[in-house]
Amino acid sequence: MRAHLERDFERFRAGLPADLAAHVREAYRIDLAARYLGFSIPHPIGKGSGQLSLNQEQLENDRAAGLAYVVLKTVIAEDAAGSRAMEAWAVHETRMKVETVRSASGLEGWTVTWKGRGWDRSFEDYLELVRAAGDLTRSGAMLVVPSAKYHLPGNDERFREGEYHHTTERLARAWGGELLALEKDFSPTLAADSLASERDRIIRWLREVPSLIRGAAGAVPVRVALKLMNARHGESFQLDMVEAAASADALVCFNRLWSAERGVAYGGYDLSDRNLRALAGVKTAGIGRPPLSGTGNVSSGRMILEYAKLGCESVQLHTFFQLPLSEYPATAGSRTQRALHTLVFHPESGLIAGLLDLEQSGRLHRRDGELRFLDVTTLGDEADVTRR
Ligand SMILES: Cc1cc2nc3c(=O)[nH]c(=O)nc-3n(C[C@H](O)[C@H](O)[C@H](O)COP(=O)(O)O)c2cc1C
Repeated sequence: MRAHLERDFERFRAGLPADLAAHVREAYRIDLAARYLGFSIPHPIGKGSGQLSLNQEQLENDRAAGLAYVVLKTVIAEDAAGSRAMEAWAVHETRMKVETVRSASGLEGWTVTWKGRGWDRSFEDYLELVRAAGDLTRSGAMLVVPSAKYHLPGNDERFREGEYHHTTERLARAWGGELLALEKDFSPTLAADSLASERDRIIRWLREVPSLIRGAAGAVPVRVALKLMNARHGESFQLDMVEAAASADALVCFNRLWSAERGVAYGGYDLSDRNLRALAGVKTAGIGRPPLSGTGNVSSGRMILEYAKLGCESVQLHTFFQLPLSEYPATAGSRTQRALHTLVFHPESGLIAGLLDLEQSGRLHRRDGELRFLDVTTLGDEADVTRR
């Protein structure tokens, strides 16, 4: 199998097989099936909300590349009169700088420096994109879900429910179908905002927002994923946030770090180190939580497995889809295709290699002859239960 992997890695430099997951299943007896927000997806690799999911052309390229799912850029919620409490987040900024960043642990990774925030075009334009997202999802071509940032009140303030109703209803109608799947973005910009400085306030938002959104879509059921920020508090607060968000349908953990010095969000290994520490804390403490999706410096198949071992049933990448072309071993295809090639097939750092290693070390076992990615997300759970 290792020799087969070396050969696949070489021959797929020029292009991936049309059905990536089917090939992996057939050639390696590995089932990469994963989950996001209750949806079954063919493998765990998706795209996080941001500048790479702004239009239909990007969606079409990602579908053709074989990506498992995409979260659309975050739209800023508005009420029926078009007023937006989070107006300041609708900033227009096109310049992005992809640069290397060294972590406190001395590892060199990549980060994207960018001063923009949310969707900066009209809500109507966003709804058009959401219609395309719904069509792609229903046709089975690729799961694509919208993302929104709604009003978040101060301590003695009420939620502006008008925003919640108007925005959620319109998103539900545009996405179509029997339910709405939606990501609610709490970050990263909030990390820089004085509103986000109070722990009680954040905890209240996390407790109340899922039911507010669910109650806002009329008769349409809503599945809500909360994308949690890296708050400017100690690491134990990350655990408090997970605990407070128990009523969500999924959690995306955790958005980028904030550099007060430079006034920008950033990633790299500081981000994955911190996220993995927090998720390990959640697991060790046995905190009840919704299904998880990992985000932050996912730059190899092995990093996908680090998130999976702590319970993440899928991952969402942004930065790794933006590297200079010379950083990908593939020689052809879109950045999404080139990223998938190395994430899945790299003979040392890829997902298949990592799963075969887990099998070889006796931690992961074949069932009905197959290794299953999702089995990684429950590794060691029995041991944890006995320890508690
Ligand atoms: C340029 C840029 C724009 C982003 N915009 C959003 C956004 O609008 N909403 C959101 O929830 N996350 C946003 N993110 C966060 C990413 O979706 C992702 O969770 C984060 O960057 C960590 O993953 P990465 O290390 O692979 O980049 C953005 C990230 C970048 C780099």
